[in-house]
Amino acid sequence: MSAPDVIRNHRAFQAALGRWYEQNHRKLPWRTQPSLYRTVVSEFMLQQTQVNTVLPYFDAWMKQFPDFEALAAADEDTVVKAWEGLGYYRRARNLLALARAYVDADPKPVTASEWQALPGVGPYTAAAIASISHHEEIAVIDGNVVRILTRILDDRTAYKDASQAARQLVGQANQLIKGASSPGDHNQAMMELGATVCTRGNPLCPLCPVQAYCRSHLTGEAELLPIFAKRNTVYRQINRCWLERDGKLLLQKAPSDSARLAGMHELPEGRLLKCDYDKAPLILSKKRGIANELIEERIYALAGDTPVPDSPHLLWADIDELDQLTLSGPHRRWVSEILGTRKQELFPGA
Ligand code: ADE
Repeated sequence: MSAPDVIRNHRAFQAALGRWYEQNHRKLPWRTQPSLYRTVVSEFMLQQTQVNTVLPYFDAWMKQFPDFEALAAADEDTVVKAWEGLGYYRRARNLLALARAYVDADPKPVTASEWQALPGVGPYTAAAIASISHHEEIAVIDGNVVRILTRILDDRTAYKDASQAARQLVGQANQLIKGASSPGDHNQAMMELGATVCTRGNPLCPLCPVQAYCRSHLTGEAELLPIFAKRNTVYRQINRCWLERDGKLLLQKAPSDSARLAGMHELPEGRLLKCDYDKAPLILSKKRGIANELIEERIYALAGDTPVPDSPHLLWADIDELDQLTLSGPHRRWVSEILGTRKQELFPGA
């Protein structure tokens, strides 16, 4: 037995997917009350971030910056502060630049290729905005969609990564959306299916509305797809210091032209302090994986009177006012953890 060819039967595939989406989609705020601005903001927040993490940020953002004009008038520090904790801060700066460009644009961008000319808008975000807000028949191909397509087509190519797979699969994805009554819903349905049913390790095939079109379901090997060529993990160690003096904490601030971290505050790296930091007590060590890197961050507690070299990147911040500065998510957590532990030592049972 073989599955009906999904490309030739794309209208029936769309109909089955559409009925499922209608009944099963999560009632997310950018879906229940859609607008162009809400679509743009949600798509920026959803780049590399899961829906559940985005939800509270999205609501707070809409209160603080309700439309393109309000966002365009904000200053960059305020915008990056509102993004604090979501990570990949370049998205916040791009979104601000996009709002300013959009407010000034005449005529306004409509098609995916016009949207792609705006800051921070790649092919995937452009397709999402143009299909959801302007009904363009153009497929969104994120990691979820790559997973569905490789499984449905039983595509066993060993791709380098999801972006390469997306480039290879764009033709088939655009065939599947042809003639869809709502291209935006079709795209959101594909992403939703990938997020909730056609999941990575444990696909819920019995619940899948398009199981009949899926070649890998017939082989029972859906969960093995997609295949990504293994990349060697690179280990990187970053040594940081905890230096506290007179109620202040030493921080480093990334320069404003730093691509990833512009304006963000972090615990200072040992190399900036020019001392034997690694002889000091190690108070925290955290490992995290990003892409093919395993990063270990170590934090050493220096004596309060350690000399601090002159550096435009170092500054003393009042510990009581740390919440007014922008710290990246992991640094905020580490600082809270260290301050919390110390409080426990000073006031046991507090
Ligand atoms: N990921 C990116 N955009 C999305 C959307 N509109 N719905 C669900 N997941 C998404």
